[in-house]
Amino acid sequence: MKLGEKILFGIIGLLFVITIISFFSLESTRHHSKKPLFPILTHYEFTAEGEKGYGIYQQRGCYECHHAVGSGTSMGVSLDGLGSKHDVVYFYNFLKNPENTYGAKTLDHGAPPKDAAYVSELPDSELHSMAVFLSELKADQGSSSSFEPPEEQSGFVDAMVQMWTPAGWKTSFTDIRDWMKGKEEKNDAKH
Ligand code: HEC
Repeated sequence: MKLGEKILFGIIGLLFVITIISFFSLESTRHHSKKPLFPILTHYEFTAEGEKGYGIYQQRGCYECHHAVGSGTSMGVSLDGLGSKHDVVYFYNFLKNPENTYGAKTLDHGAPPKDAAYVSELPDSELHSMAVFLSELKADQGSSSSFEPPEEQSGFVDAMVQMWTPAGWKTSFTDIRDWMKGKEEKNDAKH
């Protein structure tokens, strides 16, 4: 073998070894760590109406674009946890009249030829059941659809807030983390 070939094969061999080592070390940390790789921060508890709405949701093929209750695709918005952001009335209005309700340009919901145009044509009773189902998809603290930030304090977030918050905001708004701390203290005082 020429020297060049030796170096080339050497490098390829080294990369191979590094790949194998990092794969196994990552897998073993994952197995030994109690923390899940992706924590699930949403939950649901369906009423009879919500359960019915979930059935219709599946029947009407919403999962082709959406993710909810642990299955579906990620082409559109994930619906898990969205019930902590909006209520039944909003969901009904969105499904029936997306362009006027969304507050931004819609991509798929709306008038034909948009791909989810069929949704607003569904019978009212179906839209209502699905609105109830959607409102029961709740978010836990720290989820992207929750108003409450993660419980842990993060030095990184503190530094970013310190650096980037426009001056006026600090006097006009309360930092939600301070607001939540105040809420906890009030709760503690009650017990
Ligand atoms: C062709 C893909 C597609 C299909 C099918 C679809 N959606 Fe959507 N959905 C989207 C997209 C994209 C958005 C983001 C809004 C937009 O751009 O239309 C969205 C947004 C939503 C939202 C979020 C509204 C908000 O304010 O955050 C809800 C709720 C929703 N869809 C429910 C449904 C339900 C229920 C069905 C089935 C009856 C359905 N979607 C079918 C693509 C789809």
